[in-house]
Amino acid sequence: MASLVSSSSSSIAVCLISLSFVSVAVMAATPRRAIDVPFQKNYVPTWAFDHISYFNGGDEVQLCLDKSTGTGFQSRGSYLFGHFSMHIKMVPGDSAGTVTAFYLSSQNSEHDEIDFEFLGNRTDQPYILQTNVFSGGKGDREQRIYLWFDPTKDYHSYSVLWNMHQIVFFVDDVPIRVFKNSKDLGVKYPFNQPMKIYSSLWNADDWATRGGLEKTDWSRAPFVASYRGFHIDGCEASADAKFCATQGMQWWDQKEFQDLDGPQYRRLQWVRQKYTIYNYCADQSRYPTMPPECHRDRDV
Ligand SMILES: *[C@@H]1O[C@H](CO)[C@@H](O)[C@H](O)[C@H]1NC(C)=O
Repeated sequence: MASLVSSSSSSIAVCLISLSFVSVAVMAATPRRAIDVPFQKNYVPTWAFDHISYFNGGDEVQLCLDKSTGTGFQSRGSYLFGHFSMHIKMVPGDSAGTVTAFYLSSQNSEHDEIDFEFLGNRTDQPYILQTNVFSGGKGDREQRIYLWFDPTKDYHSYSVLWNMHQIVFFVDDVPIRVFKNSKDLGVKYPFNQPMKIYSSLWNADDWATRGGLEKTDWSRAPFVASYRGFHIDGCEASADAKFCATQGMQWWDQKEFQDLDGPQYRRLQWVRQKYTIYNYCADQSRYPTMPPECHRDRDV
């Protein structure tokens, strides 16, 4: 990770701008409802500590991106399976060039990763949500959607349900993507490497907005993303553990979480039909033969 960057006191001051919060408790319907806890219970800053501001004893946290640096945080523990959620209010106004990420990542060489990446845009232009799954070092499974709301206006919950059977990406209570365990089809599935949870805000104007055409307008800095929630409902394991002692016994292991139900598949279908921008499964120039998991994940 980037080294600790010290910033001038003036940039600390500009990061402490917004003290008003709209509190909207919207949670996934199916996974167990998360209890909001303070940031420091489960998370620590990763880099640029002075670009993170804490409010109400850590119930709310803001990440600040300015020309000198972005910032990020990570979970204290590593987890094998569970439900991982965060309430985020994205950078408002002109956020073109910025990326806010929320992801799970293993620390070992055969990399597993489950990603939400929110690509900012010019004022009143829509954010893009890009998701990806890496398993056993292989990624290249990007999907991109527009959201059905303005993610800068209120807090929304973004969460990942991960068990032995499936990985589900939720936006509020809507499943927007599923990655099923397709080991029988020869597709590696993350199952034996604990992951940490990360979030960060950084400048990616070389690729993020309209493929890098829109540059970050630094006269609009600082860019601020707001967070609350911070609950982690997972099986904590040491970073090099291969299994979780309670596997099979947790709520997320039970039958009702091993597949989406009919109404959930219909909502997934609704997202696909109305909001999809890009789907690797449908990219024939990149994949002349469709990747094996695509049918099972109902991506096509
Ligand atoms: C930004 O807005 C433009 C124009 O509406 C759109 O084409 C693009 O997909 C939007 N999002 C990003 C991240 O570029």
